Amino acid sequence: MPDLGNLREEYGHDTLSKESTHPNPVEQFRNWFDHATEQKIPEPNAMSLATVGIDYQPWQRTVLLKAYDERGFVFYTNYESRKGAQIAENPKVSVIFPWIQLERQVIMTGTAHKIGAAESLKYFASRPFGSQLGAWVSQQSSIVSSRSLLLAKLDEMKRKFKEGEVPLPSFWGGYRIEPSTFEFWLGGKNRIHDRIFYQRDAEGNWQRNRLAP
Ligand SMILES: Cc1cc2nc3c(=O)[nH]c(=O)nc-3n(C[C@H](O)[C@H](O)[C@H](O)COP(=O)(O)O)c2cc1C
Repeated sequence: MPDLGNLREEYGHDTLSKESTHPNPVEQFRNWFDHATEQKIPEPNAMSLATVGIDYQPWQRTVLLKAYDERGFVFYTNYESRKGAQIAENPKVSVIFPWIQLERQVIMTGTAHKIGAAESLKYFASRPFGSQLGAWVSQQSSIVSSRSLLLAKLDEMKRKFKEGEVPLPSFWGGYRIEPSTFEFWLGGKNRIHDRIFYQRDAEGNWQRNRLAP
């Protein structure tokens, strides 16, 4: 068994300062996201999404970022899933992009809003046939007695819908997370990491500061 106490990496190939970051955190994210894509890390758009419902119990799961711009960060899911129920109870969420291979992470907090059905449909129509059927098959996060039940439902959906004609399920679509804060973290030598934290001031303008590691 490996000695976990000795399992550590030394970081510090790069540094990050207030001056070297973009005044707009969405643009800073774009810089880092483009870099992560160029570096070919697996699934750079995979983010860990944390939600907290009315019982105050945090839950996390990985989802894929499918679009982002000034308005926010979009992912798609089943609105009736556990995360969907929790967002209905409390729309405040947090996400992390764990780009460990690059010695980087981005943490964002914000408020999730359902996007319109037209925008969800546009994305849904672009998904492969199998993924479209999959959305119909799974009552995400509910208890299911067996895998074969899911496969039988998939067969049923295959018979029901033709390729190119799968309708958007009413219970499936996107959320846009409107960001409140961002943190860009870069691993440094001797655990002196760089953390640049963005939040809006009273006028709604982004301000950024260095946080202690
Ligand atoms: C790499 C990866 C990407 C995923 N992408 C999504 C996604 O975009 N949407 C989604 O609903 N679930 C996605 N999942 C599955 C979720 O992590 C999770 O199991 C599911 O959404 C149910 O979560 P919930 O019960 O907390 O609602 C992904 C899982 C992994 C490992």
